[in-house]
Amino acid sequence: MERIVTGEELIEDEVITYNIRPSRIKEYIGQTDVKENISVFIEAAKIRDEPLDHVLLYGPPGLGKTTLAYIIANELGSNIRTASGPSIEKAGDLAAILSSLEPGDVLFIDEIHRMPRHIEEILYPAMEDFCLDIIVGSDGSSRSIKINLPPFTLVGATTRAGDLTGPLRDRFGIVSKLQYYTVDELESIIKRTSRVLDMPIDDDAALELARRSRGTPRIANRIFKRVRDFSLVDGNSSIDIDTTSKALDRLKIDKIGLDDTDYQLLQAIINKFGGGPVGIESIASAIGEEVSTIEDVYEPYLLQCGLLKRTNRGRMVTENAYQHLKIEYNKSIFE
Ligand SMILES: Nc1ncnc2c1ncn2[C@@H]1O[C@H](COP(=O)(O)OP(=O)(O)O)[C@@H](O)[C@H]1O
Ligand SMILES: [Mg+2]
Repeated sequence: MERIVTGEELIEDEVITYNIRPSRIKEYIGQTDVKENISVFIEAAKIRDEPLDHVLLYGPPGLGKTTLAYIIANELGSNIRTASGPSIEKAGDLAAILSSLEPGDVLFIDEIHRMPRHIEEILYPAMEDFCLDIIVGSDGSSRSIKINLPPFTLVGATTRAGDLTGPLRDRFGIVSKLQYYTVDELESIIKRTSRVLDMPIDDDAALELARRSRGTPRIANRIFKRVRDFSLVDGNSSIDIDTTSKALDRLKIDKIGLDDTDYQLLQAIINKFGGGPVGIESIASAIGEEVSTIEDVYEPYLLQCGLLKRTNRGRMVTENAYQHLKIEYNKSIFE
C-alpha cells in the first residue's frame, strides 16, 4: 500500500515541475526565512478563515517576487488579479480593479512604487478597512460615498522599498526582502530547470552556471537556455562543462557573473574618478545608463560581492575590484 502512495506523490511532483516557474511553496528554492514566515501566515489566515495580511515583497529584479506572489495565491487557494504601478494611470483604473475583486482574492501590484501618489491614496482605506471612498457628482454638488469591498490581500512588489511613501509601507502587515541566492540554491534551480526543459546538465557545468548567475534565478534560467543552444548546435544531447565555459565566455559573463556593464561601471570609477568616491549621477552619465538601472540592477550585486561600497560622499570601488579587474591598486590614492 505504502509504495503506491509514494508512487502517486512522485508522479504529482513530476507534473508540478513541468513549468520553470515554481507554483507551490515547496518548489520555491531558497529565501528560507521569507518562505517559512509566509507559510506560517498563510496557514494562520486559513485557520482564522480570514484573508492573509497584505504582503510587500522587495528586492532586485529576477529574485522571485512575481513567482512568490503567484505561489501565495495558489497556497491560499485564491484567484490572483494582477496590475502594475505604471499601468494604473487614473484613480478610476484602480477603483475599477478594486471593486471587481471577489472575497479572498489576491491583488498583485507589480512595481508598486511607480503608482502615482494621488492614486496611492485610494489604496489606504481599501487596505485598512476594505472600502473605497469615491467622489461623485461635479464641482458644486460633489459628495463622497463609501463603497465596501470584499476582504482581499494586496501583494505589492518593488525593486525599491525606499521609494514607497510611509503611509503605504505601513499598511503592509508583512514586509519581506528577497536576498540574492547562494551558489548552492542556484545550482538546485538550474537542475530543476534542466529537468523541466528535459536537457540534462553535468554537475560541474551546473555549478559553473550557478557561480556565474549573479545570485539571480532569472539570470540562471536565461543563461541555462543559451548554454543549451550552444550544446545543441555542437550536437550534444546534454550540457557539459566545456560548452558551458565556452558559451559564457562568448556571452561575456565572467567567473562571478559580471557582464559588460558591470565592467564599464567599475572601470569608469577607477579610470575617470580615481576610484571614487563619486556620485551616482556622474557614474550614470559616464557609462550612459539610467541612475535607476544602476541603483536597482547593477549596484546591489557589486555591493554584495564587495567590489563596490557606498559612503556618504559617494560610491567607491574596493581593493577587491582592482584585483578582479587586474588593475594595479595604488594605495596612496586612498590615503
Ligand atoms: N525561488 C525560486 N526557485 C526557483 N525558481 C525561481 C525562484 N525564484 C525565481 N525563480 C525563477 O526566476 C524567474 C524570475 O523570477 P520572478 O518571480 O519573475 O522575479 P521578479 O518578479 O523578482 O523579478 C522565474 O520565472 C522563475 O523561473
Ligand atoms: Mg516580477
